[in-house]
Amino acid sequence: MRTETVVEVCRISKSFGRQSRVLCDVSLTLKRGEMVALIGASGSGKSTLIRTIGGLIPVDAAPANGDGACGVVRLFGLPMQENGRVTRHAKALRARTGVIFQQFNLVPRLSVLTNVCIGSLGQRRTLLGAGGYFAAEDKRTAMRALDRVGIAQLALQRGSDISGGQQQRAAIARTLVQRAELLLADEPLASLDPSSSKRVMNILSDLNREDGITVLVSLHQVEYAIKYCPRTIALRNGAIVYDGPSAALGRDFLNEIYGEESEQLFVPGFDAPAVHAVSTLPGEDVSVPATTVPSLRIASSPAQIDARQTA
Ligand SMILES: Nc1ncnc2c1ncn2[C@@H]1O[C@H](COP(=O)(O)OP(=O)(O)OP(=O)(O)O)[C@@H](O)[C@H]1O
Ligand SMILES: [Mg+2]
Repeated sequence: MRTETVVEVCRISKSFGRQSRVLCDVSLTLKRGEMVALIGASGSGKSTLIRTIGGLIPVDAAPANGDGACGVVRLFGLPMQENGRVTRHAKALRARTGVIFQQFNLVPRLSVLTNVCIGSLGQRRTLLGAGGYFAAEDKRTAMRALDRVGIAQLALQRGSDISGGQQQRAAIARTLVQRAELLLADEPLASLDPSSSKRVMNILSDLNREDGITVLVSLHQVEYAIKYCPRTIALRNGAIVYDGPSAALGRDFLNEIYGEESEQLFVPGFDAPAVHAVSTLPGEDVSVPATTVPSLRIASSPAQIDARQTA
């Protein structure tokens, strides 16, 4: 039977060299079919967390003093990382996990179609496809994926010759070809205009609802989290300061957990509504009844976080 818990992060920390910790004792669980936003100011650790979940960088080993921190990342019930090491399961787990980055998503000199076909390599035992040669069936699958994200007409363009938003859609198509069950998207909207951003988020949302793909997406702007993701995890200085319904993320509440940093999290000029209303993107009107907003869980006070940072 397929496990319901897709991502389990248990008390991980991450330092680079002698710097203070970039992630501090982070734990979270994602269930199959969830679409979760990861928000936080610049430098709060969003990319680092996404990369550790994807097994792209190792977390710190558990300290020898046995303070209970276990430092484990499990995907689909299997360890991706344990005690500072990426495990032997990593390759198989990566094949089930699509990762989308803010930029550098495509190989610039290859066609969009070939870029998308590359997603099928993880499914193979041999490296058929190296050099840009893919079977007709792979190309048909890639064309269906490109059609799904609305850019089939760009299949033969070079990766470098399409817009940022189109590149992100091609990167999503590649994860479809890969048949990823988990999608980790690190600020996929960072270089996009509002209309491309909406299109990309609509596609992610559609894949989540229609295909049941579990999505963790880091976002700079909280409005997109509120509109598209039922749940948000908020990072500050490498620690989780909130994990709960996105609908609760009003301006006052964000001020409470982020202080002045909260200004970084809003689209400029956006006037966030009170806590119990879902904020909207320009030209939209969505609201939820107050009764749908459960009580909040604030994981740590800023003082606790500062203490951890200097520990
Ligand atoms: N490879 C690295 N070596 C040293 N420090 C790093 C490395 N990667 C990240 N950091 C540091 O870790 C902290 C968190 O970085 P990270 O990129 O995870 O933040 P972020 O929330 O993704 O920020 P942004 O919104 O700007 O993308 C920063 O202080 C950054 O300088
Ligand atoms: Mg980042």
